[in-house]
Amino acid sequence: MSARPFIICENLVKIYKVADLEVVALQGVDLTVQRGEMLALVGPSGSGKSTLMNILGGLDTPTAGRVSVGDYNLLEMTRRERVLYRRREVGFVWQQTARNLLPYLSAQENVELPMALNGMPAQQRRQRAQMLLEQVGLSGRLRHRPDRLSGGEQQRVAIAVAMANQPRLLLADEPTGEVDSEAAEQIFSALRAFNREAGVTIIIVTHDVSIASRVDRVIGMRDGRTSTEIVRRRDSAGQIASVDEYAIVDRIGRLQLPQAYLEQLGIAERARLKLREDHIAVYPDAQNS
Ligand SMILES: Nc1ncnc2c1ncn2[C@@H]1O[C@H](COP(=O)(O)OP(=O)(O)OP(=O)(O)O)[C@@H](O)[C@H]1O
Ligand SMILES: [Mg+2]
Repeated sequence: MSARPFIICENLVKIYKVADLEVVALQGVDLTVQRGEMLALVGPSGSGKSTLMNILGGLDTPTAGRVSVGDYNLLEMTRRERVLYRRREVGFVWQQTARNLLPYLSAQENVELPMALNGMPAQQRRQRAQMLLEQVGLSGRLRHRPDRLSGGEQQRVAIAVAMANQPRLLLADEPTGEVDSEAAEQIFSALRAFNREAGVTIIIVTHDVSIASRVDRVIGMRDGRTSTEIVRRRDSAGQIASVDEYAIVDRIGRLQLPQAYLEQLGIAERARLKLREDHIAVYPDAQNS
């Protein structure tokens, strides 16, 4: 028997109202994540990645459906529960380096801040801040303010800030979007180390193929839905043993076929199905071709 998933989204819907218009940002997302996983979320601009992250982080409320993280039901939280959830259970790293850190505080003070808000004594939070900054390779930058740090260093401080209150979930929305590939590598390694050592569950939104290729699960989003999934299984030596591609089937049986497959076979509007003993065959509609 497998444990109850850490994150469960079922038919999750988010509608933004802008003036008289309704924008359906999420139109029925289904997703489960086990505790301790590190996964990437990929997909075209506007597919709903940030919307999903904001909901999982308790920054935005869903319109309908079901979403829970650990013991928290994010659809039914009170204001106060939401504040505590954000402070204790989740950490965030944003793409814009400036959004992650307070400019007038040193690296160490930035890392201490969430702990101070959570009521940790000064001595303890100083020690923990130093330890976290050492873990991200910045023990030589404790007193630097953000404007004296490179973009990559700022992002690593941001990871230390996000980990300050020992969250169980870390959300990173394009954390390497504004840095070069070497800095991206260091950011990814820092995230990976916290995933392995602290067991924190991590979701990274990324356009960076090299990052997406190094996590064990990549979820593809399209038009406000989770549509595909790539799962890499490793052998006991940590080498990739298999790479499997899946289409996500929602609760009423809908699945999205990858755009590239549809184009290659000229499938549009409708496809012919045949049920075989152990699979379903999908053919172009003969009448159309
Ligand atoms: N606050 C908002 N008000 C109105 N519409 C919004 C809001 N936030 C997002 N949207 C809309 O919801 C849809 C999904 O946006 P979202 O930001 O989640 O996409 P994304 O996958 O993160 O894209 P990108 O890769 O460009 O960051 C888009 O159509 C967007 O315009
Ligand atoms: Mg986004």
